[in-house]
Amino acid sequence: MSNYYRKKIHSNNLIATFDDVLILPGFTNFSPNEVDISTNLGKYHLKLPILSSAMDTVTEENMAINMALRGGLGVLHRNCSYERQLEMVRIVKRARSFVIDDVATISPNSKVSKAKFMMENYNISGIVVVDEAKKVCGIFTKRDIPFFEKDLQNGTIKDYMTKDVISIKPGASREEALKILYESRKEKLPIIGDDGLLKGLITKKDLAPEFPFASKDDEGHLLCAMALSPRFPESSQAQASLKEIDKYVDIFFIDVADFYKKDDIDGTMKLMRLLESDFVLGNIGTYQAAEYLISKCDFVEERFIGLKVGMGSGSICTTSIQTGVGAPTLYATAQVADAIQDYNQEMSLIADGGFTKPGDLPKAFSSGADIIMSGHFFAGTDESPGFIDTIAGRKVKIYRGMGSKDARVSGYIADRYIEGSKMLTEGVSDYVPYVGDVTGVLATLKEGLTNGMIYAGAGSIKEMKKASLGIVSIVGQRETSPHDLIGKF
Ligand code: XMP
Repeated sequence: MSNYYRKKIHSNNLIATFDDVLILPGFTNFSPNEVDISTNLGKYHLKLPILSSAMDTVTEENMAINMALRGGLGVLHRNCSYERQLEMVRIVKRARSFVIDDVATISPNSKVSKAKFMMENYNISGIVVVDEAKKVCGIFTKRDIPFFEKDLQNGTIKDYMTKDVISIKPGASREEALKILYESRKEKLPIIGDDGLLKGLITKKDLAPEFPFASKDDEGHLLCAMALSPRFPESSQAQASLKEIDKYVDIFFIDVADFYKKDDIDGTMKLMRLLESDFVLGNIGTYQAAEYLISKCDFVEERFIGLKVGMGSGSICTTSIQTGVGAPTLYATAQVADAIQDYNQEMSLIADGGFTKPGDLPKAFSSGADIIMSGHFFAGTDESPGFIDTIAGRKVKIYRGMGSKDARVSGYIADRYIEGSKMLTEGVSDYVPYVGDVTGVLATLKEGLTNGMIYAGAGSIKEMKKASLGIVSIVGQRETSPHDLIGKF
């Protein structure tokens, strides 16, 4: 039985976590620009090993899109109806792909004023003109809008549109599209099938590699992840809703405080057979739980791609206070990393919650994590749901645990905790400072991780797993923080 990661932070039943340990410096034989922080989550390659939590004050479509554009992933929360869940996954999947599926169209007999109205309201610069049979007969762009008001009011699209449409066939590559756009000096390229029907639109703007690190699927759409209850829905209507959501999701994250439970495991096995996406299971906190899930359960093996770990250490969690049970994130990471080493080295490990400083990230990776997840870092950003408030002159946003009273009144996530438990909240609701946009937050985290890896002598996440950790004494903790100064920290 492997004891490699546990030995790094764990002795005589000591449950150690971030502030208890430090990484020992290692020999660095590479230059800073050679550090590679990319990682794998099953078959998906992420340029940034960071996820935002599936919480209703952290990840809705805006956060999910922005995390994926920057190389990470935002896991959409599930504290809402299936209709709203479907809306969110659709928006994420359709965002920023270089092919637009929902193309705005207009009839050749419409008035020019209608096209102008559409352009202003949809914030677009061109509309494809299609006849009654939906065949493409032209394109009308901002440049075609007539100058004189009388023409604008009375003019008909067919008299002003560009009839000679430069188009591309369905399935064409990004490179082919770029070449045609460049050679024709056009901004928009309708995709037209052999039947003459409109199949989509490619725009120059969407092709520009503004986000070269984006997490994408094979078709160039952003990756989409969503939280999922482990309970198998008995009604056929609910099953149909889940199957519809499944079409837009790449990875479902089973979303419960403690997944090491027979009912949840049985439900998840059935869900894996109903749905087609990949699954990350969690949360768990011990070697035994990981060993059981990997080696003794009948999950669909090729779609069981990761384990999410940590229990009770989230900044808004009260599970450990309320129940006396917990597995702080670093401890849980080392526990599960050893089981992964022993039973399935392809499995990805996500260390979830408890991160408060950039320096906590390298510690998680050297304890065996492949990816980290945080709500705390992202709740105060522009991209999280909710408004910016001001308290005593400071800008703040609300951040609440999914086990808090406020979050649980919706009724959608009662099964995240112990079902039937009505009185015991397992989370709190509070304010966190407003911290600007997610780009700035990720830049700081990225630097903390990269620089930590350089000091540790690790050029990749895989190498980082070999770094040595040691428990720091209380005096050592004091000494490795600012000390003996006049100011107050
Ligand atoms: P951070 O430290 O980033 O942790 O705030 C976020 C993680 O905490 C989990 N979570 C909860 N755990 N009670 C809990 O015990 C809660 O109310 C709660 N809400 C979220 C979750 O795993 C999240 O990613």
